Amino acid sequence: MSNHDGSIAAARPAEAPAAVIVLAAGAGTRMKSRTPKILHPVGGTSMIGHALRAARGVEPRELAVVVRHERDRVAEHVTGLDATAVLIDQDDVPGTGRAVQVALDGLDALSGNPLSGTVVVTYGDVPLLTPETLRELVAVHQREGNAVSVLTALLDDPTGYGRIQRHEDGTVVAIVEHKDASPEQRTIREVNSGIYAFDADVLRSALTRVDTANAQGEMYLTDVLAIARAAGGRVAAVVLADRWQVEGANDRVQLAALGAELNRRLIEKWMLAGVTVVDPATTWIDSTVVLDEDVTLLPGTHLHGGTSVARDAVVGPGTTLTDVVIGEGAHVVRTHGSGARIGAGASVGPFTYLRPGTVLGAEGKIGAFYETKNVTIGRGSKLSHLGYAGDAEIGEYTNIGCGNITANYDGVHKHRTVIGSHVRTSSNTVFVAPVSVGDGAYTGAGAVVRKDVPAGNLALSFAPQRNIDGWVAQKRPDTASAAAAAAAPSDTPSDPPSSGNPTEESTHA
Ligand code: UD1
Ligand code: CA
Repeated sequence: MSNHDGSIAAARPAEAPAAVIVLAAGAGTRMKSRTPKILHPVGGTSMIGHALRAARGVEPRELAVVVRHERDRVAEHVTGLDATAVLIDQDDVPGTGRAVQVALDGLDALSGNPLSGTVVVTYGDVPLLTPETLRELVAVHQREGNAVSVLTALLDDPTGYGRIQRHEDGTVVAIVEHKDASPEQRTIREVNSGIYAFDADVLRSALTRVDTANAQGEMYLTDVLAIARAAGGRVAAVVLADRWQVEGANDRVQLAALGAELNRRLIEKWMLAGVTVVDPATTWIDSTVVLDEDVTLLPGTHLHGGTSVARDAVVGPGTTLTDVVIGEGAHVVRTHGSGARIGAGASVGPFTYLRPGTVLGAEGKIGAFYETKNVTIGRGSKLSHLGYAGDAEIGEYTNIGCGNITANYDGVHKHRTVIGSHVRTSSNTVFVAPVSVGDGAYTGAGAVVRKDVPAGNLALSFAPQRNIDGWVAQKRPDTASAAAAAAAPSDTPSDPPSSGNPTEESTHA
């Protein structure tokens, strides 16, 4: 049933499970965190988010999440991800068996009669478990007519896990918890993943016979297997070759290991789908990101959230993007961005900070050391060097000169700057919003644009330059500057006529 990479071949259950129960009531104390364990992200999605996605993958009639520790925070998060998930509160009785019992009681009460058919149990903290694996478990369970089917794995170090005890004919007899196991039982390497498919009636009746007489004083769900077998039910194990899928994160060391493995898998998937990843080791891609064929990711690229990259685009090196949509053939170099859209063939970077609401048109450019926020830039327009554009709208094929700033904030309110198409602004222009510049207008170097500029006008706002003869010799005597000035050739003009053409100073295009 395993593919070469250890994953399970897709299978369809004959019948939709009556329910999936996700256990998420535990405290997760080994995380040493104020954030509940299952809310910690792996690959950009919370652990419980991964669990819900896998659970939905078997299309259950009901999806229940058992909560207790940090109940309200977990409940809010779960409801935000999956509005139809049923939240079940576990009571004071500890243990996985009790968690499933209260869930089953809750679901039975909700539907008005006892659930029948298949009930799947899984955990909120196994983020690499795939929907395909759960589907395969349910399919095997239904095909073999089992009372209980448990997902197991063979581990080199099974410490801490429940061990699978098999009869000599290979059938499963019982699960023995590590803490309750004899030295001999502890040598068993096949472990319980904690993920099962049960027949609902078998589960309900077996749970009434589970007690807390064990090393941990808990109601063990694992006891259901031996009880079901003794009652004549068939108990089988589905062995998973891919141990990562059953591995939970109990502390932050395991969390990082799972995150790295998930990332490795996602990158491998994208490379096989036609994405060039120059350095997989320094590339991080959330499970929610979408990439087209012939995208190239250069070293140190981190793509998060709803980021998508279209064909032939090149991203990186050294780029972190969250919820950024990149068009075909665009280049995004050494950029930090979120909530932005980059048009086809556009170019961004290096050293660019794209803030939410940035929309760059096709063939446009936001260049080095630029910060943008809430700005729409039309096709072919360029903001090439050193500046800030916020709360602004820029038309098509406009060139914004070096060092331009939109002064959008008056200390209390934000105001808009509207700049037309085919505008040429000179270096160090400041747009004091609210202000607008018409199509085809120009500004002079250092212009402080406080009044609207009509189409085709040149806006100047400078005071005439004055050169004060002999100022350095008089005010800064005995300095290196004074000495250099004294040594300068005497034909240096002492009072040149002032230039009547300010755009001569605006060199950057
Ligand atoms: C459990 C299994 C063990 C298995 C291991 C796999 C039992 C008795 N043991 O052990 O055989 O190898 O998982 O990881 O089931 N939870 C609740 N309510 C509770 C207790 C736990 O919802 O009262 C939830 C936890 O939040 C967690 C999951 O159940 O998601 C497992 O609980 P945990 O305490 O980690 O079980 P283990 O001792 O690891
Ligand atoms: Ca655990």
